[in-house]
Amino acid sequence: MKPPVPLLSVRNLSRNFVVRRDMLGRPREFVHAVDDVSFEVDAGTTLGIVGESGSGKSTLGRLALRLIEADDGRISFAGRDLRALPPGELRSLRSDMTMIFQDPYSALDPRWTVGRSVAEPLRVTGSANPAEQRAAVVEMLGLVGLDADVVDRLPGAFSGGQRQRLVIARALITRPRLVFCDEPVSALDVSTRAQVLGLLRDLQRDLALAYLFVSHDLGIVEAVSDRIAVMYLGSIVEVGPAGAVAHQYRHPYTASLVSASPAADPVAQRARRRVLLAGEPPSPVDPPSGCAFHPRCPLAQPICAVEKPALKTGHDGHAVACHVTAGNPRLAGEALLSRMTSSGQPTLVSPQPVAEGTCL
Ligand SMILES: Nc1ncnc2c1ncn2[C@@H]1O[C@H](COP(=O)(O)OP(=O)(O)OP(=O)(O)O)[C@@H](O)[C@H]1O
Ligand code: SF4
Ligand SMILES: [Mg+2]
Repeated sequence: MKPPVPLLSVRNLSRNFVVRRDMLGRPREFVHAVDDVSFEVDAGTTLGIVGESGSGKSTLGRLALRLIEADDGRISFAGRDLRALPPGELRSLRSDMTMIFQDPYSALDPRWTVGRSVAEPLRVTGSANPAEQRAAVVEMLGLVGLDADVVDRLPGAFSGGQRQRLVIARALITRPRLVFCDEPVSALDVSTRAQVLGLLRDLQRDLALAYLFVSHDLGIVEAVSDRIAVMYLGSIVEVGPAGAVAHQYRHPYTASLVSASPAADPVAQRARRRVLLAGEPPSPVDPPSGCAFHPRCPLAQPICAVEKPALKTGHDGHAVACHVTAGNPRLAGEALLSRMTSSGQPTLVSPQPVAEGTCL
């Protein structure tokens, strides 16, 4: 039997932004926002994307939905070549792929009623008359846990969590198959965050949604994801099943993210080793040679400054791009953290030559 086609498949996607031009308007400097990225999202599942600010998470999501154009690469949605679709056909696919924004305060027009805001995507597609739109809004408000009688109110009186429920209702009103959630809870307080994450999970189950879920917080991503991809400076450096990436992480950058995120259990929090990365994140205009993480990596070796490591996938579907850890399955999770911090100086360790036969 043929394996099912992924809902979204992205191959070798790249996008540069011009950040400086010369006097004749010719491009002189580029930000390498997304560099040769590939991933898949199956129907009804969540791919979480985690990485620090500027690593390219939002750009990747926007490229994957063709909200902005890629320089290179291939995007297939439900078996259709998204980059080859003419504008008319792309427009008709728009209701299948929607987006939830980070800031629920700026996402809603304060002059529009709830009914008008939530119905807007239906109005744009022209797929329902006003009575059908209102009925769809009322049904969707129920699904996101709001009373039908809010339909004629303005969003000004709503709390952050209620506004994000409205934003979610608007994103789902066209019954999409894929939703790009770009930091959907980072503007909310901690208790509201948990409620909105719970709602997103319930809606995924009830409406068979696939999520591309972006956050800089690994704990949040783990809570909602089936698979997690870790981005560093425009590239995926690790990707695999959520539990494996969050607990048996194999990339030193992922280990540093884990060590920086708070543990739920206070005892585990006290015992947690902290990797303090040396220096600032490098400039995406002039990224480091070889492995882009090498100037900050405690395990860096001479080869790391020269050769970009390929993303190598193990039999369990867990892939890592690292010259040191990819060939050594024992360097994973706590053992990797321990290796990174065992020098007593967990910041920058200068790349040292490795003696032949040395087991890292
Ligand atoms: N329109 C643009 N023009 C120029 N540079 C851009 C543009 N959009 C993004 N960038 C740059 O591309 C890189 C990736 O940006 P992106 O917003 O995708 O990162 P991110 O991981 O989503 O960050 P954050 O966590 O802060 O939202 C950054 O260096 C950013 O400054
Ligand atoms: S060991 Fe080398 S390849 Fe691996 S993350 Fe560190 S610098 Fe990159
Ligand atoms: Mg972003």
